[in-house]
Amino acid sequence: MIRYLTGFQPTGALHIGNYFGALRPAIELQEKGEAFYFIADYHALTTIDEPKVLREYIHGVAIDSLACGLDPAKACFFRQSDVPAVTELTWILSNVTPMGLLERSHSYKDKLAHGIPPSHGLFTYPVLMAADILLYESDVVPVGKDQKQHLEITRDIAIKFNERYGDVFKLPEPSIREEVSTILGLDGQKMSKSYGNTIELFLPEKALRKKIMGIVTDSTPVEAPKDPTKSTIVSLYRLFATPELVASMENDFRTGGVGYGEFKNRLFEIIRERFSPMRERRAELEADTGYVHRVLADGASRAREVAERTMTRVRRAIGVVA
Ligand code: ADP
Ligand code: TRP
Repeated sequence: MIRYLTGFQPTGALHIGNYFGALRPAIELQEKGEAFYFIADYHALTTIDEPKVLREYIHGVAIDSLACGLDPAKACFFRQSDVPAVTELTWILSNVTPMGLLERSHSYKDKLAHGIPPSHGLFTYPVLMAADILLYESDVVPVGKDQKQHLEITRDIAIKFNERYGDVFKLPEPSIREEVSTILGLDGQKMSKSYGNTIELFLPEKALRKKIMGIVTDSTPVEAPKDPTKSTIVSLYRLFATPELVASMENDFRTGGVGYGEFKNRLFEIIRERFSPMRERRAELEADTGYVHRVLADGASRAREVAERTMTRVRRAIGVVA
């Protein structure tokens, strides 16, 4: 059976880009193989230094994922930090990781460019990610395009380790969804927390409407024809609407006579409708923290078993255990 593994960083409330780019593909895969999904809280430490904030985000990712359909009966769902062996493996892998490999990391350079202070943790982030992937003997790692290089680094590290110590790790394959790789945000750029242009999934309705009304548009008057191919509204609508509804919106763009406010309203309604069952489920989970706690504890104990088997082989291979 194919083992899928991916991690979700608890660095903010889930937005539509995260949902379509990462969470939904993972939820679909839980039907197709053995899924290991975790909350990458150790990774989040590279950018979040407030314990209260981190705690909230961890809880947020857990209930958002479960509300959206992550099924703990199908996927092993756990917190990265509940399996501390991952940090042991990170250290061991560090010793087969050439500096040059990390120095070439786009994501590290990007983060510095966004003003995140350079720390050793930020620099070695890809080694921790390699440890996540190799510890659980993952076959396929579904990720967004931005994580492609991290998967290449993981494979390079595994190859180096195997060359030095024998065939210990299997080489994981990335699975990258090109078609949803760039969900647009309010300003028409890629939707991202770092650009402040996100639409969060579980906003209260009033706030959701306000966000959608804030989508940047040009100043074409109501009666004039508009170009649907350049519209952020249409590109977001396409994620939710049937082909017929999309065609009808495109047609109204081209004909003229309908203003952007009305198009935004259609978008708001469809988003609200789509996420309404998940919103209800989320409210239930919010009220039942015991359940969420049990899911994660159960996931952690399953994950620890797999991790311990790998670590036994690794410790023997490197010579710290006879
Ligand atoms: P952000 O850019 O908001 O900080 P993250 O980097 O935490 O988001 O992304 C978490 C996951 O969500 C990644 O797998 C990423 O590829 C996916 N993702 C984020 N933004 C988008 C987007 N605009 N379109 C598609 N996928 C996205
Ligand atoms: N770096 C990933 C992200 O920012 C999260 C992550 C951590 C991950 N460890 C992983 C993804 C292992 C896949 C596999 O989205």
